[in-house]
Amino acid sequence: MAKQTKTDRKNPATEADRAMQALPTATEAEKAEQVQPVPSEAAEPGEEGVRKLIPIYIMGKEYLVPETVTILKAFEYSGYRFIRGCGCRGGICGACATVYRTAGDYRIKVGLACQTVVEEGMYLTQIPFYPANKATYHLEELEPTVNTLMKLYPEMARCVSCNSCGKICPQDIKVMDYVNAAIRGDIKRAAELSFECIMCGLCASRCPAEIVQYYIGILCRRLYSRHMAKQAEDLKARVEEIEQGKFAEEFEKLKKASEEELMKLYAERDMETVG
Ligand code: SF4
Ligand code: SF4
Ligand code: FES
Repeated sequence: MAKQTKTDRKNPATEADRAMQALPTATEAEKAEQVQPVPSEAAEPGEEGVRKLIPIYIMGKEYLVPETVTILKAFEYSGYRFIRGCGCRGGICGACATVYRTAGDYRIKVGLACQTVVEEGMYLTQIPFYPANKATYHLEELEPTVNTLMKLYPEMARCVSCNSCGKICPQDIKVMDYVNAAIRGDIKRAAELSFECIMCGLCASRCPAEIVQYYIGILCRRLYSRHMAKQAEDLKARVEEIEQGKFAEEFEKLKKASEEELMKLYAERDMETVG
């Protein structure tokens, strides 16, 4: 089961999503670009019946939205269509990082738009992309050492251990700890601690040392899995079987099967029993 995150605990997004089931959402094709204001195709606020509407402010403009919806749905309800800044709608892809303040509170808060429920008087905007220094490399040619990390991301050494990154992470990841593990050259530890990172970019937005923590995390995971982790023998054997064409005939059959046939095969597939 997926780990319960900070945003899950604070904001029961599933309830909110249920409340909005009647409203249309952006199609898959519409999800991949920046938020653009368009005339709303969602239900008019007046059709909401008993559902209470609350004011929120999207990029400074006031909108009335149902009080139970996620920020993502509130954007759409207000007439915005997601072309970027939205992907999985399930707290996995990290595309919907949102920055907001609430009335009477000086603090800047953050959350995933698909997992965070709106609050009355919320001022918000999205940061679907954060400019970040990204090293390019050939993984095969890299040594899994601290020198490699420092060469690719020398700014790592500027960490002042302020923990601003850990405090902002919607996944409750110990970001500072994995950066510090990388600085020590403990690639395995950095890989483990950063494992649940969804690359939302929020940590980098707060780092006074301008470190891009999530790229360091993914580099450690790549180095660990390619050069340090024990190879899975079963997986290796299965890849060899595939390469030798052992399943070619079955693959061909599947490629030609109709949707109904595929669904039937899926329903009747062999499954390992658990426990
Ligand atoms: S990018 Fe940073 S803030 Fe976002 S999930 Fe990964 S570690 Fe957490
Ligand atoms: S925010 Fe930057 S400087 Fe502060 S602990 Fe995280 S990586 Fe280090
Ligand atoms: S849309 Fe993927 S995490 Fe929110």
